[in-house]
Amino acid sequence: MQKHSSTRFSLPDVNDQTSAPVAAILVAAGSGSRLGHPIPKALVELAGVPIVVRAVEPLLAGGVGHVVVVAPSTHLAEFQGLLEDRPNVTVVEGGAERQDSVRLGLDAIADAEIVLVHDAARPLVPSTVVESVVAALRDGARAVVPVVPVVDSIRRIDGASSVTVDRAELRAVQTPQGFDASLLKTAHTHAAVQGLVVTDDAGVCEAVGEHITFVDGHREAMKITEPFDLAVAEAILAAKE
Ligand code: CTP
Ligand code: MG
Repeated sequence: MQKHSSTRFSLPDVNDQTSAPVAAILVAAGSGSRLGHPIPKALVELAGVPIVVRAVEPLLAGGVGHVVVVAPSTHLAEFQGLLEDRPNVTVVEGGAERQDSVRLGLDAIADAEIVLVHDAARPLVPSTVVESVVAALRDGARAVVPVVPVVDSIRRIDGASSVTVDRAELRAVQTPQGFDASLLKTAHTHAAVQGLVVTDDAGVCEAVGEHITFVDGHREAMKITEPFDLAVAEAILAAKE
């Protein structure tokens, strides 16, 4: 049978996410006070390469077409210089809190239907995790969060009394988290107007009643927060060589 060639039938379905363009906001505007270096954390070298440069790679390898790097206003030129040879990476200025930086990154995203938000502080996330977040969104999820089991025993302490929390119920939350782009924009505007302070973007979406879908994260997506974490990240890289 001959295929119908009318343009009316070749227009993409507006709800079809199978080929929707994917953008990522890489938040890198923090100072890294707990890491304790004189330069912003994302500029600190991890085995000879700045953290922000390493963090861009798994996003591009995992199917992201455009990365918006949100950098501290004090060091914009350094970030631009480090990333200028990548045509699909743009650098914009961040804000006082992570939530502000995400919102400023969102303003720089034009036409993507899927947006990932990733911490530069998690530069070793495997690209397979990025792929699973994108795959869940293409499958119809609207807010996707990678998680890993909690390995330590956890105890909630209240003054002199304490109680063990069943760790089987707990998950540690990682990034990149992925979203339907218009949902994330609406949710961030809502959070800003209401003055909500939340710890991550899934929380911003939950505040507007959105259901969260979970996928498997990975230990290597660990966050570099303190000097110990930088040493762990260097050991992970050394073990791969
Ligand atoms: N971040 C950001 N803008 C801010 C604060 C944080 O873009 N105003 C980013 C950081 O650059 C980091 C991610 O959010 O990639 C997670 O934050 P965190 O690990 O807390 O980094 P810092 O805030 O830089 O570190 P610290 O809290 O130790 O100062
Ligand atoms: Mg912080």
